[in-house]
Amino acid sequence: MSDSRMPTLTRRAFIASGAALSAGAMLPLQSNARAAGAREFRLRAEQGRARIVPEPYGDTSVWCYDGSVPGPELRVKQGERLRITVENGLAEDTTVHWHGVRVPNAMDGVPHLTQAPISAGKDFVYEFDAVDAGTFWYHPHQRSFEQVGRGLYGALIVEEPEPIRVDRDIVWVLSDWRLTEAADIRDDFGNMHDAMHGGRVGNAVTINGRIPEAVAVRTGERIRLRLINAANARIFGLDFGGHEPIIVALDGQPVEPHAPDGGLVVLGPAMRADIILDMTGNPGSRVTVQDRFYEGLEYRLVDLVYADTSVRDKTPDWPIALPPNPLPEPDLATAIRHDITFNGGMMGAMVMQEMGGSMGESEGSPNPTEGMMGNMGKDSSMGGMMGNMGMMMDMMHKGGIWFINGVAAEGHVMEPMFTLARDRSHVIAMTNATAWHHPIHLHGHSFRVISRNGQPTRHREWQDTVLMAPREKVEIAFVADNPGDWMIHCHILEHQAAGMMGVFRVA
Ligand code: C2O
Ligand code: CU
Repeated sequence: MSDSRMPTLTRRAFIASGAALSAGAMLPLQSNARAAGAREFRLRAEQGRARIVPEPYGDTSVWCYDGSVPGPELRVKQGERLRITVENGLAEDTTVHWHGVRVPNAMDGVPHLTQAPISAGKDFVYEFDAVDAGTFWYHPHQRSFEQVGRGLYGALIVEEPEPIRVDRDIVWVLSDWRLTEAADIRDDFGNMHDAMHGGRVGNAVTINGRIPEAVAVRTGERIRLRLINAANARIFGLDFGGHEPIIVALDGQPVEPHAPDGGLVVLGPAMRADIILDMTGNPGSRVTVQDRFYEGLEYRLVDLVYADTSVRDKTPDWPIALPPNPLPEPDLATAIRHDITFNGGMMGAMVMQEMGGSMGESEGSPNPTEGMMGNMGKDSSMGGMMGNMGMMMDMMHKGGIWFINGVAAEGHVMEPMFTLARDRSHVIAMTNATAWHHPIHLHGHSFRVISRNGQPTRHREWQDTVLMAPREKVEIAFVADNPGDWMIHCHILEHQAAGMMGVFRVA
């Protein structure tokens, strides 16, 4: 029986169980071979209660790891091996994805695609090496919009063999909750309005699971602040008052130390930034950290409160550049190009028309639906545009709201939208043909962001999640060195659930 004659469903099921089987079969071998070196962790996903809002409000019923929000911080040294047993104490399936960590495909935690979901009461052992030093995080990939939104996430910190010198290394897991007056989580996950607009933006922002009062600091001290945006949808633009944050890493990967544009540290969902903060305020003073990302919706995040005595009277001159991680450098001269267009959402048809009316510029993909869209996209006449918009309306009625190259995902298992030749360099040119921001995440790889709207980026930063502004074009480049089927998706979890997700294959 030839593969192409098998019904799609059977073939999909085959791919899924094959991947799950090999994961199970490989693990014991790996753990025997490396038993001595692996760091053991245990995470239990379960219901719990957390004090998110200060008294006199009550505590909040959450879903969390090991009874706390965020879950326990996993901290290892670069090069160490982690073995993490995840127990599912929830009443539904779950998985854990190690966001930004370049793990083998079978350890990536994508339900059905890389493993069978962990059912209630069962467990799964993840095992991988911490190849890159940096700030990473973990979260479920099963119904993430609700599981993450209820509190399932935690930090995964991989320390450099010789970390840069600072007085304090602090992690802020930023999150955003939609709470009722009684401090309960509002139960409107997965609603259509959030999906069509900017996602589930909440009304209570927390640092490490709590609405913060104040953070104590001392004049003269140097802090390495690791910021992790674990929110479903909120984008942060942090303003540290009179301080001058210097970004030294983005998404875990070192970057040439630089002050952020306009002084704002911008983090889309899932993104991280390591910043060096020299505490230059006066003893006894108080400085407000504000989130100014959404115009007109600025708010006070937290106050930095200076002690009455200082640590030193000059800013330290210790070096802040981080050592590079072992990432293969893409060769732009020989890179293979691919195009991706994102569209859909509220006002999507309008933006499509404005940007040329193309539903997607796929490159001769075998997927019949995608091919059809691609053909229609080549017709730039008014008739073509109207046809595309009609098509989009049609798909929206079927439940898809967001599209990658004209396809709205319905689950984690689908035909790859493109195959990347293994160990070759690739450039992916991405077009955001929507009226919304999207943090686009690729699994299994970090990539250099090489241009925005045709302009080379200043730092050619490595990222695993790139925030695209409405109508923006971004080019990324990387070597596809990690074989397997991987997700590419928007990390606004409501967008992901409403179709903004696809699979690419490295083979
Ligand atoms: Cu942070 Cu596909 O995930
Ligand atoms: Cu999005």
